[in-house]
Amino acid sequence: KGDPRLEAISEAIRVVPHFPKPGIMFQDITTLLLNPKAFKHTIDIFVDRYRLMDISVVAGVEARGFMFGPPIALAIGAKFVPLRKPRKLPGEVISECYELEYGTDCLEMHIGAVEPGERALIIDDLVATGGTLSAAIRLLERVEAEVVECACVIGLPEVKGKFKLCGKPLYVLVEPR
Ligand code: PRP
Repeated sequence: KGDPRLEAISEAIRVVPHFPKPGIMFQDITTLLLNPKAFKHTIDIFVDRYRLMDISVVAGVEARGFMFGPPIALAIGAKFVPLRKPRKLPGEVISECYELEYGTDCLEMHIGAVEPGERALIIDDLVATGGTLSAAIRLLERVEAEVVECACVIGLPEVKGKFKLCGKPLYVLVEPR
């Protein structure tokens, strides 16, 4: 902390009250993407943290993990693996579901995208309950990858405790405003 880049990142994220429903303070990262300096700071911080950790897989969670994962993967020399919502991937998949406020949702990953023993980083824009990231961790563990860490741009203070998600560490840059 004390990194002035974090302030710039936080300020570049627009907060939209009552979206998509009353009471929700939506954290809109599209304004971060519109700000090349703040976007680059975001990627740079992750790349500095992960570039020497021998990571061969960056797995991004649909949809906003697809915006941060690929530039990180390219910079650290890892492959990018999309973890998608159901019925989007054309090949053979494995699937893990998680609880929503009403009902459940699932994430899918192509079989063969990740080999046993590979070291993986999971990326998303935001962690709230941690349900989505936990499903992502389970997908990677089912193919015997080693999940090194989960990383998000925004994290609610409640999940910021380091070892919450299936025992895996979580790294977040900023809290919601
Ligand atoms: C949001 C966010 C994370 C997830 C975090 O995605 O981008 O993926 O919720 O919530 P959790 O920690 O409580 O699981 P959303 O479900 O809105 O899907 P989308 O990105 O496809 O719109």
